[in-house]
Amino acid sequence: MEPTINRGLDGINIDTSQICSIDGMKGELIYRGYDISELADKVSLEEVIYLLWEGELPDRQQLDAFRQELSELFTVPTEVIDIFRTLPKDAHPMHAMRTAVSALASFDENPDDVGAANIRRIGAKLVAQFPTFTAAFERIRNGQEPIDPDPGLSIAGNFLFMLSGERPSEAATKVMDVALVLHAEHGTNASTFVARATASTLTDVYSAITAAVSSLKGPLHGGANTAVMQTLEQIGSVEGIEPYVLDTLSQPGGRIMGFGHRVYRVLDPRAIILKEVSRHLAQESGDSKWFEMSLEMERVMDREMARDGKQIKPNVDFFSASVYRMLGFPSDMYTPIFAVARISGWMAHLYEQYGDNRIMRPRLIYEGPMGRAFKPLGER
Ligand code: ACO
Repeated sequence: MEPTINRGLDGINIDTSQICSIDGMKGELIYRGYDISELADKVSLEEVIYLLWEGELPDRQQLDAFRQELSELFTVPTEVIDIFRTLPKDAHPMHAMRTAVSALASFDENPDDVGAANIRRIGAKLVAQFPTFTAAFERIRNGQEPIDPDPGLSIAGNFLFMLSGERPSEAATKVMDVALVLHAEHGTNASTFVARATASTLTDVYSAITAAVSSLKGPLHGGANTAVMQTLEQIGSVEGIEPYVLDTLSQPGGRIMGFGHRVYRVLDPRAIILKEVSRHLAQESGDSKWFEMSLEMERVMDREMARDGKQIKPNVDFFSASVYRMLGFPSDMYTPIFAVARISGWMAHLYEQYGDNRIMRPRLIYEGPMGRAFKPLGER
Protein backbone atom coordinates (compact mmCIF):
# COMPACT_ATOMS: atom_id res chain seq x y z
CA MET A 1 0.00 0.00 0.00
CA GLU A 2 1.25 3.51 -0.90
CA PRO A 3 2.21 5.40 2.27
CA THR A 4 0.14 8.53 2.97
CA ILE A 5 2.04 11.80 3.05
CA ASN A 6 0.45 14.79 4.76
CA ARG A 7 2.76 17.64 3.79
CA GLY A 8 2.84 20.31 6.46
CA LEU A 9 1.12 17.75 8.76
CA ASP A 10 -2.12 18.87 7.07
CA GLY A 11 -5.10 17.05 8.58
CA ILE A 12 -3.05 15.09 11.14
CA ASN A 13 -4.45 14.74 14.67
CA ILE A 14 -1.53 14.43 17.07
CA ASP A 15 -3.60 13.92 20.24
CA THR A 16 -6.80 14.98 21.99
CA SER A 17 -7.00 18.33 23.80
CA GLN A 18 -9.36 20.15 26.16
CA ILE A 19 -8.11 23.65 25.37
CA CYS A 20 -9.32 25.04 22.06
CA SER A 21 -11.68 24.18 19.24
CA ILE A 22 -11.59 25.72 15.76
CA ASP A 23 -14.22 25.19 13.06
CA GLY A 24 -12.68 26.57 9.89
CA MET A 25 -15.88 26.18 7.86
CA LYS A 26 -18.06 28.06 10.35
CA GLY A 27 -15.38 30.56 11.37
CA GLU A 28 -15.67 29.52 14.99
CA LEU A 29 -12.96 29.75 17.67
CA ILE A 30 -13.69 28.37 21.13
CA TYR A 31 -11.50 28.58 24.25
CA ARG A 32 -12.55 25.86 26.73
CA GLY A 33 -16.14 25.92 25.49
CA TYR A 34 -16.52 29.73 25.27
CA ASP A 35 -16.86 31.56 21.95
CA ILE A 36 -14.00 34.01 21.31
CA SER A 37 -16.34 36.83 20.29
CA GLU A 38 -18.01 36.71 23.71
CA LEU A 39 -14.69 36.45 25.58
CA ALA A 40 -13.11 39.33 23.63
CA ASP A 41 -16.00 41.57 24.55
CA LYS A 42 -16.53 40.59 28.17
CA VAL A 43 -13.41 39.32 29.95
CA SER A 44 -9.86 40.45 30.67
CA LEU A 45 -6.68 38.70 29.53
CA GLU A 46 -6.05 37.52 33.09
CA GLU A 47 -9.47 35.78 33.12
CA VAL A 48 -8.70 34.18 29.77
CA ILE A 49 -5.31 32.90 30.95
CA TYR A 50 -6.96 31.44 34.06
CA LEU A 51 -9.61 29.83 31.83
CA LEU A 52 -7.00 28.36 29.47
CA TRP A 53 -4.94 27.00 32.35
CA GLU A 54 -7.59 25.88 34.83
CA GLY A 55 -10.46 25.03 32.48
CA GLU A 56 -12.92 27.39 34.23
CA LEU A 57 -13.41 31.14 34.34
CA PRO A 58 -12.28 32.43 37.77
CA ASP A 59 -14.65 33.81 40.38
CA ARG A 60 -13.75 37.18 41.94
CA GLN A 61 -11.54 35.68 44.66
CA GLN A 62 -9.70 33.38 42.26
CA LEU A 63 -9.13 36.25 39.84
CA ASP A 64 -7.77 38.54 42.55
CA ALA A 65 -5.43 35.80 43.75
CA PHE A 66 -4.25 35.10 40.19
CA ARG A 67 -3.64 38.80 39.50
CA GLN A 68 -1.70 39.03 42.76
CA GLU A 69 0.38 35.97 41.85
CA LEU A 70 1.28 37.45 38.44
CA SER A 71 2.00 40.94 39.78
CA GLU A 72 4.58 39.50 42.19
CA LEU A 73 6.39 37.98 39.20
CA PHE A 74 6.46 40.99 36.84
CA THR A 75 10.10 41.90 37.49
CA VAL A 76 12.71 40.30 35.21
CA PRO A 77 16.23 39.56 36.59
CA THR A 78 18.51 42.56 35.94
CA GLU A 79 21.09 40.23 34.38
CA VAL A 80 18.62 39.29 31.63
CA ILE A 81 17.74 42.94 30.94
CA ASP A 82 21.47 43.71 30.83
CA ILE A 83 21.91 41.21 27.97
CA PHE A 84 19.74 43.56 25.87
CA ARG A 85 22.31 46.33 26.43
CA THR A 86 24.93 44.17 24.71
CA LEU A 87 22.79 43.49 21.60
CA PRO A 88 23.10 45.69 18.51
CA LYS A 89 20.45 48.46 18.50
CA ASP A 90 19.07 47.11 15.22
CA ALA A 91 18.67 43.53 16.52
CA HIS A 92 15.21 42.18 15.67
CA PRO A 93 12.98 42.25 18.78
CA MET A 94 12.12 38.58 18.19
CA HIS A 95 15.82 37.67 18.35
CA ALA A 96 16.02 39.62 21.60
CA MET A 97 12.90 37.88 22.93
CA ARG A 98 14.22 34.43 22.08
CA THR A 99 17.50 35.29 23.81
CA ALA A 100 15.67 36.54 26.91
CA VAL A 101 13.54 33.38 27.28
CA SER A 102 16.58 31.19 26.87
CA ALA A 103 18.59 33.25 29.38
CA LEU A 104 15.76 33.16 31.96
CA ALA A 105 16.28 29.40 32.31
CA SER A 106 19.72 29.95 33.79
CA PHE A 107 18.31 32.32 36.43
CA ASP A 108 15.48 29.96 37.47
CA GLU A 109 15.99 28.02 40.68
CA ASN A 110 14.50 24.84 39.22
CA PRO A 111 14.27 25.02 35.42
CA ASP A 112 14.38 21.32 34.54
CA ASP A 113 11.69 19.78 36.73
CA VAL A 114 8.70 19.18 34.44
CA GLY A 115 6.34 18.09 37.22
CA ALA A 116 2.92 19.79 37.24
CA ALA A 117 3.58 22.21 40.14
CA ASN A 118 6.93 23.38 38.80
CA ILE A 119 5.78 23.99 35.23
CA ARG A 120 2.76 25.92 36.55
CA ARG A 121 5.19 28.08 38.59
CA ILE A 122 7.32 28.73 35.49
CA GLY A 123 4.20 29.39 33.38
CA ALA A 124 3.06 32.20 35.69
CA LYS A 125 6.55 33.66 35.64
CA LEU A 126 6.75 33.65 31.85
CA VAL A 127 3.29 35.14 31.36
CA ALA A 128 4.17 37.88 33.86
CA GLN A 129 7.62 38.59 32.40
CA PHE A 130 7.07 38.50 28.61
CA PRO A 131 5.59 42.05 28.62
CA THR A 132 8.34 43.32 30.95
CA PHE A 133 11.29 42.21 28.84
CA THR A 134 9.56 43.08 25.56
CA ALA A 135 9.01 46.65 26.76
CA ALA A 136 12.54 46.80 28.23
CA PHE A 137 14.13 45.84 24.90
CA GLU A 138 12.05 48.43 23.06
CA ARG A 139 13.25 51.16 25.42
CA ILE A 140 16.89 50.06 25.48
CA ARG A 141 17.15 49.98 21.70
CA ASN A 142 15.78 53.53 21.68
CA GLY A 143 18.43 54.68 24.15
CA GLN A 144 15.99 54.84 27.10
CA GLU A 145 16.09 53.16 30.48
CA PRO A 146 13.53 50.38 31.12
CA ILE A 147 10.58 51.28 33.33
CA ASP A 148 9.78 49.10 36.33
CA PRO A 149 6.43 47.29 36.16
CA ASP A 150 3.58 48.64 38.26
CA PRO A 151 2.08 45.76 40.28
CA GLY A 152 -1.24 47.63 40.40
CA LEU A 153 -1.76 47.44 36.63
CA SER A 154 -3.12 44.64 34.44
CA ILE A 155 -0.87 42.82 31.96
CA ALA A 156 -2.17 44.99 29.10
CA GLY A 157 -1.98 48.25 31.07
CA ASN A 158 1.45 47.45 32.42
CA PHE A 159 2.78 46.66 28.97
CA LEU A 160 1.68 50.06 27.65
CA PHE A 161 2.97 51.77 30.81
CA MET A 162 6.41 50.13 30.60
CA LEU A 163 6.72 51.17 26.95
CA SER A 164 5.86 54.85 27.33
CA GLY A 165 6.28 55.60 31.02
CA GLU A 166 2.82 57.16 30.98
CA ARG A 167 -0.31 55.72 32.54
CA PRO A 168 -2.32 54.41 29.58
CA SER A 169 -5.92 55.54 29.05
CA GLU A 170 -8.68 53.09 29.82
CA ALA A 171 -9.56 53.00 26.12
CA ALA A 172 -5.98 52.11 25.03
CA THR A 173 -5.73 49.47 27.76
CA LYS A 174 -9.02 47.93 26.61
CA VAL A 175 -7.88 47.76 22.96
CA MET A 176 -4.58 46.16 24.04
CA ASP A 177 -6.42 43.70 26.26
CA VAL A 178 -8.81 42.67 23.46
CA ALA A 179 -5.90 42.18 21.03
CA LEU A 180 -4.08 40.01 23.58
CA VAL A 181 -7.21 37.93 24.33
CA LEU A 182 -7.68 37.32 20.59
CA HIS A 183 -4.07 36.15 20.19
CA ALA A 184 -3.87 34.07 23.38
CA GLU A 185 -4.61 30.64 21.94
CA HIS A 186 -5.20 28.92 18.62
CA GLY A 187 -4.86 25.16 18.82
CA THR A 188 -1.98 23.35 17.11
CA ASN A 189 -0.67 26.26 15.08
CA ALA A 190 3.01 25.97 14.09
CA SER A 191 4.52 27.54 17.23
CA THR A 192 2.25 25.63 19.63
CA PHE A 193 3.00 22.40 17.84
CA VAL A 194 6.72 23.20 18.09
CA ALA A 195 6.34 23.88 21.83
CA ARG A 196 4.55 20.56 22.33
CA ALA A 197 6.98 18.63 20.12
CA THR A 198 9.96 20.12 21.98
CA ALA A 199 8.39 19.36 25.37
CA SER A 200 7.64 15.80 24.24
CA THR A 201 11.33 14.93 24.75
CA LEU A 202 10.77 15.99 28.40
CA THR A 203 13.20 18.84 28.00
CA ASP A 204 12.42 21.94 30.11
CA VAL A 205 9.72 24.60 29.65
CA TYR A 206 12.24 27.32 28.73
CA SER A 207 13.57 25.21 25.86
CA ALA A 208 10.05 24.52 24.58
CA ILE A 209 9.09 28.21 24.76
CA THR A 210 12.35 29.34 23.15
CA ALA A 211 11.52 27.01 20.25
CA ALA A 212 7.96 28.36 20.10
CA VAL A 213 9.20 31.97 19.94
CA SER A 214 11.53 30.96 17.11
CA SER A 215 8.65 29.40 15.20
CA LEU A 216 6.28 32.33 15.75
CA LYS A 217 8.81 34.73 14.21
CA GLY A 218 8.40 33.31 10.68
CA PRO A 219 6.49 35.43 8.13
CA LEU A 220 4.09 32.58 7.36
CA HIS A 221 3.05 32.55 11.03
CA GLY A 222 3.25 35.36 13.64
CA GLY A 223 5.74 37.35 11.57
CA ALA A 224 2.95 38.07 9.08
CA ASN A 225 1.61 41.04 11.10
CA THR A 226 4.94 42.86 10.68
CA ALA A 227 5.00 41.88 7.01
CA VAL A 228 1.48 43.29 6.52
CA MET A 229 2.50 46.70 7.83
CA GLN A 230 5.75 46.70 5.87
CA THR A 231 3.69 45.97 2.74
CA LEU A 232 1.21 48.78 3.48
CA GLU A 233 4.07 51.20 4.18
CA GLN A 234 5.77 50.20 0.94
CA ILE A 235 2.55 50.73 -1.06
CA GLY A 236 1.82 54.02 0.70
CA SER A 237 -1.69 54.83 -0.60
CA VAL A 238 -5.13 53.35 -1.23
CA GLU A 239 -4.59 53.84 -4.98
CA GLY A 240 -1.43 51.73 -4.85
CA ILE A 241 -3.17 48.66 -3.40
CA GLU A 242 -4.78 47.23 -6.52
CA PRO A 243 -1.65 47.36 -8.74
CA TYR A 244 0.41 45.86 -5.90
CA VAL A 245 -2.00 42.95 -5.34
CA LEU A 246 -2.35 42.23 -9.07
CA ASP A 247 1.40 42.37 -9.59
CA THR A 248 2.14 40.13 -6.58
CA LEU A 249 -0.47 37.55 -7.55
CA SER A 250 0.89 37.44 -11.09
CA GLN A 251 4.30 36.30 -9.78
CA PRO A 252 4.83 32.54 -9.31
CA GLY A 253 4.02 31.76 -5.65
CA GLY A 254 3.12 35.42 -4.98
CA ARG A 255 1.48 35.85 -1.56
CA ILE A 256 -0.33 38.74 0.06
CA MET A 257 0.66 38.78 3.73
CA GLY A 258 -2.15 38.57 6.28
CA PHE A 259 -4.36 36.47 3.99
CA GLY A 260 -4.97 32.74 4.00
CA HIS A 261 -5.04 30.13 6.71
CA ARG A 262 -4.55 26.40 6.98
CA VAL A 263 -7.82 25.93 8.90
CA TYR A 264 -10.23 28.78 8.05
CA ARG A 265 -12.18 28.69 4.82
CA VAL A 266 -14.35 31.63 5.92
CA LEU A 267 -13.27 34.85 7.63
CA ASP A 268 -11.16 34.26 10.76
CA PRO A 269 -13.42 35.33 13.68
CA ARG A 270 -10.48 37.22 15.20
CA ALA A 271 -10.11 39.24 12.00
CA ILE A 272 -13.81 40.22 12.19
CA ILE A 273 -13.27 41.68 15.68
CA LEU A 274 -9.93 43.32 14.87
CA LYS A 275 -11.43 44.90 11.75
CA GLU A 276 -13.99 46.68 13.95
CA VAL A 277 -11.30 47.69 16.45
CA SER A 278 -9.27 49.09 13.57
CA ARG A 279 -12.31 50.96 12.20
CA HIS A 280 -12.98 52.41 15.65
CA LEU A 281 -9.37 53.53 16.17
CA ALA A 282 -9.32 55.11 12.70
CA GLN A 283 -12.47 57.12 13.53
CA GLU A 284 -11.19 58.12 16.99
CA SER A 285 -7.73 59.16 15.84
CA GLY A 286 -8.81 60.81 12.59
CA ASP A 287 -6.01 58.87 10.87
CA SER A 288 -7.85 56.41 8.68
CA LYS A 289 -5.09 55.77 6.13
CA TRP A 290 -4.06 52.31 7.33
CA PHE A 291 -7.63 51.14 7.82
CA GLU A 292 -8.70 52.42 4.38
CA MET A 293 -5.73 50.70 2.76
CA SER A 294 -6.57 47.46 4.58
CA LEU A 295 -10.19 47.64 3.40
CA GLU A 296 -9.06 48.16 -0.17
CA MET A 297 -6.67 45.21 0.05
CA GLU A 298 -9.46 43.03 1.41
CA ARG A 299 -11.74 44.16 -1.45
CA VAL A 300 -9.22 43.46 -4.20
CA MET A 301 -8.17 40.11 -2.68
CA ASP A 302 -11.82 39.03 -2.35
CA ARG A 303 -12.40 39.74 -6.02
CA GLU A 304 -9.17 38.11 -7.22
CA MET A 305 -9.48 35.01 -5.03
CA ALA A 306 -13.13 34.50 -6.02
CA ARG A 307 -12.01 34.68 -9.66
CA ASP A 308 -9.54 31.85 -8.97
CA GLY A 309 -12.13 29.88 -6.96
CA LYS A 310 -10.01 30.16 -3.76
CA GLN A 311 -11.22 30.90 -0.24
CA ILE A 312 -8.38 33.11 0.93
CA LYS A 313 -9.57 35.63 3.54
CA PRO A 314 -7.84 37.99 5.97
CA ASN A 315 -6.38 36.20 8.99
CA VAL A 316 -5.68 37.50 12.53
CA ASP A 317 -2.49 39.22 11.39
CA PHE A 318 -4.15 41.39 8.77
CA PHE A 319 -6.18 43.89 10.80
CA SER A 320 -3.95 43.59 13.88
CA ALA A 321 -1.29 45.40 11.82
CA SER A 322 -3.35 48.60 11.43
CA VAL A 323 -4.54 48.32 15.06
CA TYR A 324 -0.95 48.18 16.38
CA ARG A 325 0.07 50.99 14.04
CA MET A 326 -2.67 53.23 15.41
CA LEU A 327 -1.64 52.30 18.97
CA GLY A 328 1.80 53.66 18.05
CA PHE A 329 3.91 50.48 17.96
CA PRO A 330 6.80 50.15 15.48
CA SER A 331 6.08 47.40 12.96
CA ASP A 332 8.83 45.02 14.14
CA MET A 333 7.17 44.96 17.59
CA TYR A 334 3.96 43.40 16.27
CA THR A 335 5.22 39.81 16.43
CA PRO A 336 6.62 40.21 19.97
CA ILE A 337 3.18 41.54 21.00
CA PHE A 338 1.69 38.37 19.52
CA ALA A 339 4.10 36.36 21.71
CA VAL A 340 3.15 38.39 24.81
CA ALA A 341 -0.37 37.01 24.26
CA ARG A 342 0.44 33.53 22.96
CA ILE A 343 2.71 32.58 25.86
CA SER A 344 -0.52 31.81 27.76
CA GLY A 345 -1.72 29.37 25.08
CA TRP A 346 1.72 27.80 24.73
CA MET A 347 1.78 27.17 28.48
CA ALA A 348 -1.74 25.66 28.49
CA HIS A 349 -0.53 23.20 25.86
CA LEU A 350 2.64 22.40 27.77
CA TYR A 351 0.59 21.54 30.88
CA GLU A 352 -1.34 19.06 28.71
CA GLN A 353 1.74 17.72 26.95
CA TYR A 354 3.87 17.13 30.05
CA GLY A 355 0.79 15.80 31.86
CA ASP A 356 0.30 12.92 29.41
CA ASN A 357 3.37 12.73 27.22
CA ARG A 358 4.41 10.65 24.26
CA ILE A 359 7.51 11.69 22.33
CA MET A 360 6.68 13.10 18.87
CA ARG A 361 8.42 11.19 16.19
CA PRO A 362 6.84 11.43 12.71
CA ARG A 363 8.46 9.94 9.63
CA LEU A 364 9.65 11.02 6.20
CA ILE A 365 9.36 8.83 3.12
CA TYR A 366 12.93 8.31 1.96
CA GLU A 367 13.28 8.79 -1.79
CA GLY A 368 17.06 9.03 -2.06
CA PRO A 369 19.46 6.51 -3.61
CA MET A 370 20.09 3.05 -2.09
CA GLY A 371 22.82 0.41 -2.37
CA ARG A 372 25.60 2.76 -3.40
CA ALA A 373 29.15 1.37 -3.66
CA PHE A 374 31.37 3.10 -1.08
CA LYS A 375 34.59 4.74 -2.29
CA PRO A 376 37.37 5.71 0.16
CA LEU A 377 38.28 9.43 0.29
CA GLY A 378 41.23 9.15 -2.07
CA GLU A 379 39.08 7.55 -4.80
CA ARG A 380 36.18 10.09 -4.82
N1 ACO B 1 -1.86 35.20 -0.96
C1 ACO B 1 -2.11 34.65 -2.15
N2 ACO B 1 -2.42 33.35 -2.34
C2 ACO B 1 -2.46 32.58 -1.25
C3 ACO B 1 -2.22 33.07 0.04
C4 ACO B 1 -1.91 34.45 0.16
N3 ACO B 1 -1.66 34.99 1.36
N4 ACO B 1 -2.34 32.08 0.94
C5 ACO B 1 -2.63 30.97 0.26
N5 ACO B 1 -2.71 31.28 -1.07
C6 ACO B 1 -3.01 30.33 -2.15
C7 ACO B 1 -1.77 29.52 -2.48
O1 ACO B 1 -1.03 30.14 -3.50
C8 ACO B 1 -2.34 28.20 -2.91
O2 ACO B 1 -2.76 28.29 -4.24
P1 ACO B 1 -2.53 27.04 -5.24
O3 ACO B 1 -3.37 25.92 -4.67
O4 ACO B 1 -3.00 27.58 -6.56
O5 ACO B 1 -1.07 26.74 -5.18
C9 ACO B 1 -3.60 28.05 -2.04
O6 ACO B 1 -3.97 29.39 -1.67
C10 ACO B 1 -3.38 27.24 -0.77
O7 ACO B 1 -2.23 27.76 -0.10
P2 ACO B 1 -1.23 26.90 0.77
O8 ACO B 1 0.07 27.60 0.85
O9 ACO B 1 -1.23 25.47 0.30
O10 ACO B 1 -1.93 26.95 2.18
P3 ACO B 1 -1.26 26.54 3.55
O11 ACO B 1 -2.36 26.08 4.39
O12 ACO B 1 -0.10 25.63 3.33
O13 ACO B 1 -0.65 27.93 4.09
C11 ACO B 1 -0.55 30.07 5.04
C12 ACO B 1 -1.32 28.76 4.98
C13 ACO B 1 0.93 29.80 5.32
C14 ACO B 1 -1.12 30.91 6.19
C15 ACO B 1 -0.70 30.81 3.70
O14 ACO B 1 -2.06 31.14 3.49
C16 ACO B 1 0.16 32.07 3.61
O15 ACO B 1 1.32 31.98 3.19
N6 ACO B 1 -0.38 33.26 4.00
C17 ACO B 1 0.41 34.47 4.04
C18 ACO B 1 1.18 34.56 5.36
C19 ACO B 1 0.28 34.81 6.55
O16 ACO B 1 -0.55 35.70 6.54
N7 ACO B 1 0.50 34.03 7.59
C20 ACO B 1 -0.23 34.18 8.88
C21 ACO B 1 -1.18 33.05 9.08
S1 ACO B 1 -2.12 33.26 10.56
C22 ACO B 1 -1.00 32.89 11.79
O17 ACO B 1 -0.14 32.09 11.65
C23 ACO B 1 -1.11 33.63 12.99
